[in-house]
Amino acid sequence: MRKVVIHRAGGHDRLTLEDSPTPTPGPGQLRIEVAAIGVNYADCVIRMGLYASAKELVGWPITPGFEVAGRVAAVGEGVDWELGQEVLALSLFGGYASELVVPATQVFAVPAGLSLPEAAGLPTIFLTADYALHMLARPRAGERVLVHAAAGGVGSALVQMARDHGCEVVGVVGGAHKVEAARQLGCSRVIDRSREDLWAAARASAPEGYAAIFDANGVSTLRDSYRNLAPAGRLVVYGFHSMMPREGGRPNYAKLAWDFVRTPWFSAMDLVNRNRSVLGFNLSYMFHRADLLSEAMTRIVDGFKRGAWRMPAVTSYALDEVARAHADLESGRTVGKLVLLP
Ligand SMILES: NC(=O)c1ccc[n+]([C@@H]2O[C@H](COP(=O)([O-])OP(=O)(O)OC[C@H]3O[C@@H](n4cnc5c(N)ncnc54)[C@H](OP(=O)(O)O)[C@@H]3O)[C@@H](O)[C@H]2O)c1
Repeated sequence: MRKVVIHRAGGHDRLTLEDSPTPTPGPGQLRIEVAAIGVNYADCVIRMGLYASAKELVGWPITPGFEVAGRVAAVGEGVDWELGQEVLALSLFGGYASELVVPATQVFAVPAGLSLPEAAGLPTIFLTADYALHMLARPRAGERVLVHAAAGGVGSALVQMARDHGCEVVGVVGGAHKVEAARQLGCSRVIDRSREDLWAAARASAPEGYAAIFDANGVSTLRDSYRNLAPAGRLVVYGFHSMMPREGGRPNYAKLAWDFVRTPWFSAMDLVNRNRSVLGFNLSYMFHRADLLSEAMTRIVDGFKRGAWRMPAVTSYALDEVARAHADLESGRTVGKLVLLP
């Protein structure tokens, strides 16, 4: 089988394709013949050597990849999936491979009507959105929420889920070519921050503030996201991509250090006195909670069945174009979800 291996931190040239023995599933595991692999912004951060859980849980070398879709190729003892069945799976790293062994608790049937490339890109963005929305922010129907990077992977899932929950969703995008996609996903107002003053437009759309704001930009917007919460509002922080380079593939350590210093610290006293909450999470630390993952996947698959949401646009790359996929995602220009085809 073939897999992408990163031997040490760096740019796109660190993504090497290597042959490896096909793994055998142990008890409670199964092997998937992978048809498509979801690409996440986190994979780029792993490659740059800046992703804490990858360093803690794996180290170097590492094969990135949190999600795949394909067909069951072999089952270990105690696993009752049928050979050939189409499945999607979550993986705690290792997904950039043509064959993948995963615990059966991380494997789910492909929702009807989805292609394997769509299915591969589904779990991370919808699980992230589900956790941010339903476990942390918990807005009520009718409340107004703001989603940054609304036409990206996680943003597309957040917009649709919040809309389905009855929220009014204001989406922020970084370019004119993303406005229509964000509108189609269900935003009642799309702010194109490349053309208009983001926070003036955000205040005009919600003078009383937002019940919840979802922010993975980090330093570029975090302070203003907090300021624009309504009384009792919740700011959900789940990434820091504005610290990262848009081109070249290598972090600028001077910028990184400066952004780190400028990233706001929230005082407990201020949270109480201003009546606001700041919440954060990282899905890669949640894999031991098979109960939560499977509850959330049940809600997500149900949403697909109800027609409440759909996969955003999916752009495919061959596995040996992995460097181009990373470069495109890092550029900030992509819309929807990227997948690799091994
Ligand atoms: N905590 C978790 O468990 C978890 C799980 C999954 C993803 N995430 C995080 O969620 C975020 C979105 O992930 P994704 O894979 O779905 O990516 P994505 O949203 O498809 O792509 C990133 C988007 O962020 C915006 N952006 C702003 N500043 C940027 C910069 N300096 N460089 C690149 N993009 C920039 C761009 O959109 P606009 O220009 O339109 O704003 C870009 O399209 C990432 O920060 C990721 O690490 C966190």
